[in-house]
Amino acid sequence: MKRLFLLVLSGMISTAGYSQAPLSTTTTMTEPATSNLLPTEIAIIPEPVSVIKQAGHFILPENVTIYAPASPEMKQVTRFLQERLSIPTGSYVSVVSGHTGEHAQIRLILNDKQNPQLGTEGYQLTVKPNQILIRANKAAGLYYGVQSLVQLFPKEIESKEPGSHIRWSAPCVDITDYPRVGWRGLMLDVARHFFTKEEVKQYINAMVRYKYNILHLHLTDDEGWRIEIKGFPKLTEVGAWNVKKTGEFGNFIPPTPDEPRTYGGFYTQEDLKELIQYAQDRFVNIMPEIDVPGHSLAAIASYPELSCTPGAENYRVRSGERIMDWSRGAPPTALVDNTLCPANEKVYSFLDSVITQVAALFPFEYIHMGGDEAPFNFWQKSDAVKALMQKEGLKNMHQVQGYFEKRVQAIVESKGKKFMGWDEIMDGDLSPSAAVMSWRGVKNGVDAAMKKHEVVMSPSTYAYLDYMQADQITEPRVYASLRLNKAYEFDPIPAGVDPKYIKGGQANLWTEQVTNIRQAEYMTWPRGMAIAESVWSPKEKKNWETFFVRVEQHFQRLDVAETKYAPSVYDPIFKVSRSADKQLIIELSTEITGLDIYYSFDNSFPDHFYPKYTEKLTPQKDATMLRVITYRGKQPIGRMMNMPIDELNKRARR
Ligand code: ACM
Repeated sequence: MKRLFLLVLSGMISTAGYSQAPLSTTTTMTEPATSNLLPTEIAIIPEPVSVIKQAGHFILPENVTIYAPASPEMKQVTRFLQERLSIPTGSYVSVVSGHTGEHAQIRLILNDKQNPQLGTEGYQLTVKPNQILIRANKAAGLYYGVQSLVQLFPKEIESKEPGSHIRWSAPCVDITDYPRVGWRGLMLDVARHFFTKEEVKQYINAMVRYKYNILHLHLTDDEGWRIEIKGFPKLTEVGAWNVKKTGEFGNFIPPTPDEPRTYGGFYTQEDLKELIQYAQDRFVNIMPEIDVPGHSLAAIASYPELSCTPGAENYRVRSGERIMDWSRGAPPTALVDNTLCPANEKVYSFLDSVITQVAALFPFEYIHMGGDEAPFNFWQKSDAVKALMQKEGLKNMHQVQGYFEKRVQAIVESKGKKFMGWDEIMDGDLSPSAAVMSWRGVKNGVDAAMKKHEVVMSPSTYAYLDYMQADQITEPRVYASLRLNKAYEFDPIPAGVDPKYIKGGQANLWTEQVTNIRQAEYMTWPRGMAIAESVWSPKEKKNWETFFVRVEQHFQRLDVAETKYAPSVYDPIFKVSRSADKQLIIELSTEITGLDIYYSFDNSFPDHFYPKYTEKLTPQKDATMLRVITYRGKQPIGRMMNMPIDELNKRARR
């Protein structure tokens, strides 16, 4: 994550009423876009390609038979459906294969003759009063069909416990569906804060609901090295541990040498095999990232000889103290050397060992080798780097990094894998076979595609899940904001780019400020739904208003599933300015339509008997606090926001 761009300033986007292109004519379950849409019986996220609602309902009987092909790939598909249909409902659900299954209530069929429209992940789902049929070319398609089917049943289907008095019905419908792009990723940073194997599985379970198929694990950084590498035991004995700190990450008091370094963890290779299998069973590939040459303090604390400055410092894994100066922009100035030395052959043999083991462990075809935000200041002072520049004819530090990336790419490719890096890898002279993950806005991805690189779009402008979702007065403080409606504008294939180079899109959850899995979920949902719809659904079917109606229905589903999500979309947006006579002017708005804002300046807690916001406000001279809350009708819906007038004055001075 980083500080390069203050892309979306807190509270500055006023998009209430924003709407996208109208729905295609094949969709009959939603109303045209109007401001007060009602919940719909069919509320699938991501929106399918075509949904034709039919009359009637399928009612789940007490004894359910699922017919499915008997391939190993199908095991998790049927197990998942069996679990969802039996645990909350109490129904007896059996799975059969080996005959035609004509009388089974739910039939999953692999097409004998491939349907080209569906590709490898598409499906057709037909719900009739007496039978449910899902057809696909491949098991992955059946899995996504099952995910959509589960979303047709009442929200209680998400429960981990039996429910009662529920009518387990699904509306009759014909759905044809397939993804817009093949790469639909979420990145989880397990380096800044470690997430256990079970927590990663929990994250995978939530992401497959929205048809994500790639989990990018950011495995190494300044704060931790999380993957066992045989032959380099210190990476996990030393590099996986720091001092537990609580508060606001980034400026913690540097730990003293005697503070216990017991916070962190790592995955053994056996752990990773288990995770990879768990993900694969759910049609998710895990892409490993080893972030070099910057972001490497955990490796250097383990093996200082990997830096250009081995004797300079007593290197320690970062515990959230300041190690970087961003005041002059990018690249940052490192206060502690966190870069691998590009002029040291030992670094390349170290990386060869690491990449050999990573390549053997992870079946996915790409290995991500980072490349972002490498500071150059320690390289600039290094005699070894100066000698390398002379020998190789390198004119500047970008070219030095380019040299490093080429060497690393050759190692990755020598193991039969494809090389991917953050878009800084283009700043040197990049080989055409490198794939680029575009994060510094969309432009770098467009440039990379023009240069015929494969590209995954994950621009911080739309897809950075570590950014605040509403005003910093209620959200854990990060340096930038990304509201749900902005995330929903994400287009992985921007105008003018040749789509053949765009592999897809991805949202990234950096975890400097995310210390537990509940917070990881809070940061991911609902923005993860917006990104999922952006990478799966046809562009012309995206519609902010109908999307948000479905999001609210999914909030209820996530409540039942006990998956956390952020309610930030209900919180009002503050905008401040000054009148000609220097008075503070406060403008309030909401991200979604249909909400009322009530406020107080007298330190008491407003409800719907308080003044309703209708026009710009100017606080009285002695007021110290503006409290606001949103309502839908008589129901409070946003959180109570306590905004000090001093804070608003400060913002008005900026
Ligand atoms: C990044 O956010 N530094 C890739």
